[in-house]
Amino acid sequence: ELSPPDRAKFLAARQALTFVEDGMRLGLGTGSTAAWFHRLLAERIHREGLNVIGVPTSSRTRDLCNALGVPLTTLDDAGWLDLTIDGADELDESLTLIKGGGGALLLEKIVATASDRMLVIADGAKRVKTLGAFPLPVEIVPFGWKTTKAIVEEALADLDVDGRNSTLRLHNSEPFVTDEGHFIIDLHLGRIGDATALAHLLTDIPGVVETGLFIGIAQAAVIGEPGGTVIRMT
Ligand code: A5P
Repeated sequence: ELSPPDRAKFLAARQALTFVEDGMRLGLGTGSTAAWFHRLLAERIHREGLNVIGVPTSSRTRDLCNALGVPLTTLDDAGWLDLTIDGADELDESLTLIKGGGGALLLEKIVATASDRMLVIADGAKRVKTLGAFPLPVEIVPFGWKTTKAIVEEALADLDVDGRNSTLRLHNSEPFVTDEGHFIIDLHLGRIGDATALAHLLTDIPGVVETGLFIGIAQAAVIGEPGGTVIRMT
């Protein structure tokens, strides 16, 4: 018996499977909702002989899909993808997303951007009117990270946000290191007034690699609610 949040994630993942067609090259997201999708996808591959190939967005997803027997390739071998299915930490009505709670935002953004379509799968709790209650993950290079963090906080003074504190993400008391060898700072903004202005401001800072803001990337979302799913298109 699944807990209500897990059931919502499962329902969203199951609905997303109806978007998958034989022969597709898929971007495979990261996180607990994406993991439901991978398990259900593996079932269809084994049961129906569904012929798809996936590009994982993290080492975690790669390991899970290898264990499940989902055929994988690299982005460069695939060249281009038909559909990416991935979770989100927050999404608003225009399908602007905050991602990176699981630390995979950089590869997730590269993969989603190299896809004809990105479909978000999430439980209803992720849906918000205004983004920013979830701390925004920003991937930065380790060199000079304290200085980069200070520059980021300083730059936020010019923007329509409620807070400007940031914290270095840790794992076992050490800096969390991403698949590409970077660090992550989480920005406690409270409210993001203008996501586009924020994204530009942050990515203009040399030590910043990417932000967890996905703007104009997702075309659709399947939102799981305990009683069923809702589909939203941009
Ligand atoms: C991973 O880096 C994130 O972008 C995930 O997609 C996000 O954290 C959603 O994870 P859950 O599905 O576990 O909530």
